[in-house]
Amino acid sequence: MFGNKTAVATLISCAIAATAALPAYAATTFKLSHNQDRNHPVHKSMKYMADEVKKLTNGEVKIRIYPNGQLGTQRESMELMQNGALDMVKSNASEMESFEPAYGAFNIPYIFHDRDHYYRSMEGEVGQKILKASEDKGFIGLTYYDGGSRSFYANKEIKSPADLAGMKIRVQPSPTAVNMIKLMGGSPTPLAYGELYTALQQGVVDGAENNPTALTNSRHGEVAKIYSMDEHTMIPDVLLISTTSWNKLTDEQKDLVKQAADDSMAYHKELWTKMIDEAMDKAKSSMDVKVVSVDKQAFIDAVKPMHDEALKNPAIKDYVQGIDALAK
Ligand code: GCU
Repeated sequence: MFGNKTAVATLISCAIAATAALPAYAATTFKLSHNQDRNHPVHKSMKYMADEVKKLTNGEVKIRIYPNGQLGTQRESMELMQNGALDMVKSNASEMESFEPAYGAFNIPYIFHDRDHYYRSMEGEVGQKILKASEDKGFIGLTYYDGGSRSFYANKEIKSPADLAGMKIRVQPSPTAVNMIKLMGGSPTPLAYGELYTALQQGVVDGAENNPTALTNSRHGEVAKIYSMDEHTMIPDVLLISTTSWNKLTDEQKDLVKQAADDSMAYHKELWTKMIDEAMDKAKSSMDVKVVSVDKQAFIDAVKPMHDEALKNPAIKDYVQGIDALAK
């Protein structure tokens, strides 16, 4: 009996000691889904962001990253986030257009004059307003990641819009991307990114368009051997969080998460510069992809109406003007 009492007392004091050792706030762990592999620059930059968040919040906020579309396509991940089953998603401005029209401003071909203009737009007031535009839709953007410029790849050279005639070109599920291919004279085929390798291999589509990491990280260079550098768009990746998850954080934690996200954008800028050159070299030297330079003017002329239309579209005209005003 006496022995039992001692055992109970010991158990109680152990339990109290264990409770006392718990931090004041239980750690919050957010799940983040994206569709690139672990070697892709954007995965590395988000890993950096997650490490920063953990460090800055003393482990109170943690982010667990699920790559390779293992939790679904970008669209499915957005839907899971809106239903509360996921906290964070990395998507891109093209895909985001159907969830928040403001992102459409980024998707207009040739809207950016160069990389500096693109950065001024992402980091400046206009880019930050676009990130906040979706607040009433249940999510907000935290930061952008450079997605380079997108060009066509196929098994033939695409040196002018006329070369696209009769070609089925995979696009992201974005009205702007569909319109762009139509104006250039091709047939747009919206498909999820994860389905594209097989679609190219089986001839379901004749070509696609993306930055060179699609050729290497996603191995599209195995099935499409010519990359024609018309550089029609510069579409950033976007890191998003649901407003429900965001509002679980204290004000101080929100500031630290935003700081980590901004820092990871700067980290990504350097990493992208290095890794995109490596991707291009790898595509050419180990995958035998031929890179073709292109006179862009005919492509620019073909899509000129899109910019004019955007300036009349009440959903995006202010953003488009904001971006135009940052050109030098
Ligand atoms: C880029 C982007 C992805 C996107 C892909 C696509 O690679 O980083 O987020 O899914 O383009 O073309 O679908």
